[in-house]
Amino acid sequence: MANSKYEYVKCFEVEDEVMFPNIILVWIKASKLHKPHDLNALKLMNSCAVKVLEEYADVVLAYGFSDEYTFVFKKTSKFYERRASKVLSIFTSFFSSIFVRKWDEFFPYKELQCSPSFHGRVIARASVEALQVYLLWRQNICHLTNLHEQCLWRLVERGMNGKEAWDFIKDFDKRSCVLKTIVEDIVKYTDNGAPIKRCKSKIITVHSKKIELGGFVEEINNVTPEYVRSFEFDSKLMPSTWIVVRIDGCHFHRFSEIREFVKPNDDRALNLMNLYAVAVLEKFWEDIVFAFGVSDEYSFILKKATNLYQRRANTIISAIVSFFTSTYVRRWKNFFQQSELKYPPSFDGRAVCYPSTEILRDYLSWRQVDCHINNQYNSCFWKLVASGKSKREAQNSLKGAQLQKKIKELAIDYNNLPVMYRQGSSVYRDKVDIALIHQENGEFPENYGKVIVGHIDIIGPTFWLEHPNILD
Ligand code: GTP
Ligand code: MG
Repeated sequence: MANSKYEYVKCFEVEDEVMFPNIILVWIKASKLHKPHDLNALKLMNSCAVKVLEEYADVVLAYGFSDEYTFVFKKTSKFYERRASKVLSIFTSFFSSIFVRKWDEFFPYKELQCSPSFHGRVIARASVEALQVYLLWRQNICHLTNLHEQCLWRLVERGMNGKEAWDFIKDFDKRSCVLKTIVEDIVKYTDNGAPIKRCKSKIITVHSKKIELGGFVEEINNVTPEYVRSFEFDSKLMPSTWIVVRIDGCHFHRFSEIREFVKPNDDRALNLMNLYAVAVLEKFWEDIVFAFGVSDEYSFILKKATNLYQRRANTIISAIVSFFTSTYVRRWKNFFQQSELKYPPSFDGRAVCYPSTEILRDYLSWRQVDCHINNQYNSCFWKLVASGKSKREAQNSLKGAQLQKKIKELAIDYNNLPVMYRQGSSVYRDKVDIALIHQENGEFPENYGKVIVGHIDIIGPTFWLEHPNILD
């Protein structure tokens, strides 16, 4: 398909590959999980971690306590070409998806009040020894956060005496380690009764006091402040630049087939995406000023002066992607009443800085031109398929073709297709009351400006001249 003159904006995307031989760790933590020390909440976290290990063959170990989990990849992993933002966003997104889907299993009588969100970061460890130190540090943090004491006092508050409360929690260690191990399984017996065994991978959960990897048992005193700094490192995005967080559905080609989306555009799927974009703008109302969406992707524009999460790239990406995903899963039924969400959708994300408003506008133009070209192509493709051609024949007939010409040839009334298909969806605030921007309590003020979804031309100047406050 044709490239547009705006494609150059791609050069602002930066490489963030975790180089070999580093081991990739993904650390994720809930943002304000509603009851971090609730036994069912911990079980739910563990159950989500098990699901992650089942889904992603490259993850060999997970360690978690309270509302956090760390996933450890095998050394040789090439998961998403080891791109840190992809890996992190997919994990936080998948975890959020599972968390929402499993909620009823662990809290059958309690409705999930709001969309949970998880943030996190990717940590590269150069060796198994360094990984061991990390795990030791996390275990020590677990210890220091004094979870036992918190549980103890809560039980005492509920009427147990000290000994009863202690007895109740003493076997309940909140540190959980989920790992893949190889076990021998008897598959059948020979005629003379001898067992035939086969090795298979099994996921087990243990509540270990100390995780020991290959004999590298370090002491906590050896965890130097330099190490801790490296565990907590999260690079910051350049100040005074526009930040664009673009999220994109993972394998939505397959997802849309299974969910039987209408081809090539399904109003329900597109409106679902729009609704969540509105939710994101309302949640991050102080920082996100505009969003543009098409197909399974959405771009969120954070204002130049934003200090959201101190502009930490990992935290911003994971928080937005995970909130978007959990809202998607929670609200699925509102749009697809007949269709069960059988497997959890996930989204990946990246953050890119653009130094000027002009370049940011070129970025948005790039996405809108892309929407237009893809829609022209898809309209032709499905018209050909509807006329009896196979998908391969339709593809071949469109190879190198001028789409405008093809549209005429196929008698497609392109200009009368819904404007949402042709121009994508723009989400922004109608009017902003500047006086409310400095409101103290951090809540979204109702009269701050209603978030609306429009289907408009954002390439030309008209919209921007009419809405000077958006990119001001
Ligand atoms: P990755 O993003 O690389 O994981 O691949 P993907 O399968 O998600 O494909 P990509 O993001 O390139 O494109 C999005 C895909 O989602 C489209 O190719 C469609 O197959 C599907 N899709 C998105 N919106 C709709 C819709 O409204 N109707 C239908 N039928 N399919 C849609
Ligand atoms: Mg996609």
